[in-house]
Amino acid sequence: MSSEQKKQYIVQPGGSLSGELRVPGDKSISHRSIMLGSLAEGTTEVSGFLEGDDALATLAAFRAMGVEIDGPENGEVTIHGVGMHGLKEPDHELDMGNSGTSIRLLSGLLSGQNFNTTLAGDSSLSKRPMSRVIDPLAKMGAVIGSNEGKPPLHVQGDNQLYAISYELPIASAQVKSCLLLAGMYAKGKTTIVEPAPTRDHSERMLKGMGYPVEVKGDTVCIEGGGRLTATTIDVPSDISSATFFMVGAAISEGSDITLKHVGINPTRIGVVNILRMMGANISLSNETVTGGEPVADIRVQYAPLKGIDIPVEQVPLAIDEFPAIFVAAASADGRTVLTGAEELRVKESDRIQAMADGLQILGVDAVATDDGIIIHGGTIGSGEVDSLGDHRVAMAFAMAGLQAGGTIVINNCANVATSFPNFVELASTAGLTLDEIDG
Ligand code: S3P
Repeated sequence: MSSEQKKQYIVQPGGSLSGELRVPGDKSISHRSIMLGSLAEGTTEVSGFLEGDDALATLAAFRAMGVEIDGPENGEVTIHGVGMHGLKEPDHELDMGNSGTSIRLLSGLLSGQNFNTTLAGDSSLSKRPMSRVIDPLAKMGAVIGSNEGKPPLHVQGDNQLYAISYELPIASAQVKSCLLLAGMYAKGKTTIVEPAPTRDHSERMLKGMGYPVEVKGDTVCIEGGGRLTATTIDVPSDISSATFFMVGAAISEGSDITLKHVGINPTRIGVVNILRMMGANISLSNETVTGGEPVADIRVQYAPLKGIDIPVEQVPLAIDEFPAIFVAAASADGRTVLTGAEELRVKESDRIQAMADGLQILGVDAVATDDGIIIHGGTIGSGEVDSLGDHRVAMAFAMAGLQAGGTIVINNCANVATSFPNFVELASTAGLTLDEIDG
């Protein structure tokens, strides 16, 4: 997979961001469109699908299980659903690449099938914790073998699943979604209680496809034995990808950028809330709802930023946006403190350490803590940093170039293709001076 390739970004200092851009489709919603579209009765038409490696890994897995899928072409995918019990045993292990969402959601869905599967991934995914899904699935009657709680996962089929009531020990949309998907195959009503709100794309899409899901406060319930009906899905642009441009514009004088048709689901807008608290000038327009998901155009005009204590309740709502938020903090006036974010240590990389190390190389006063970071903003210098093969770390450091005193070289950037395949092109169009070198 791409993580094993080498790619280097070379970012020249200065500049600003301007214009109107549409960033690629939402990764979380793209994954779910393939999974639920495959299990539906009828043909699901998807537009705005993210043609990045992660979502393509999910698509390839369903093709390997006998689902006919046309595309993707210009973000359009047609899924010929096979119904809840129509998947077939794949004749090889399923390669989830770099994608935590694919492996965790599929472990639940595949626990309910009548065949065995093996789910494997790249070197980053192979180090990520899977007990968070294996343990509750085992309580439901699933049997999953692993390498001491890490991939590859050997998911046994042919087990009757039973509904459970489960309080999530961590705020995780992947674990919640995994259990909702398993819950569709379980006898009885599965109940999941969240410690804090997390992205609810699964709940919205299930309802949109006619599968009843009860949501009351922090509790989600699903009854096994239902059916999904095919639909059309318009995938909004990914607010996590838009974030890099929001931060870039927020830190570089003269910037004025508009990001079109971005998903602004309330469980995803922590970055807008946090940047606004820091003083960013962000306005939303053309607000509408498409396929059950709220979207808007997001305009960011430069305004000076100040450091803040990030409210802990914003953490799950901005969980993927912290590498970029740390870059905003590095160029803000004063101190920014993040706590309650230990989950960042088990993402595609240890994002707290990766960002603290890189920011220090760039001359920023950034200190990693167990569950967050303390950054004293000021000037960003120059230097060579390692993204550790983490797409969001790579793109965050690219945006730091707008405020840097000299050239920033970023190593191991190939995985940007997992979520944002045309990042270099769009960033260059918007005003960043960025070259990409293979090898
Ligand atoms: C995701 C949930 C989050 C997020 C990931 C995508 C999803 O992970 O970080 O990028 O699509 O459900 P966690 O559930 O581990 O917080």
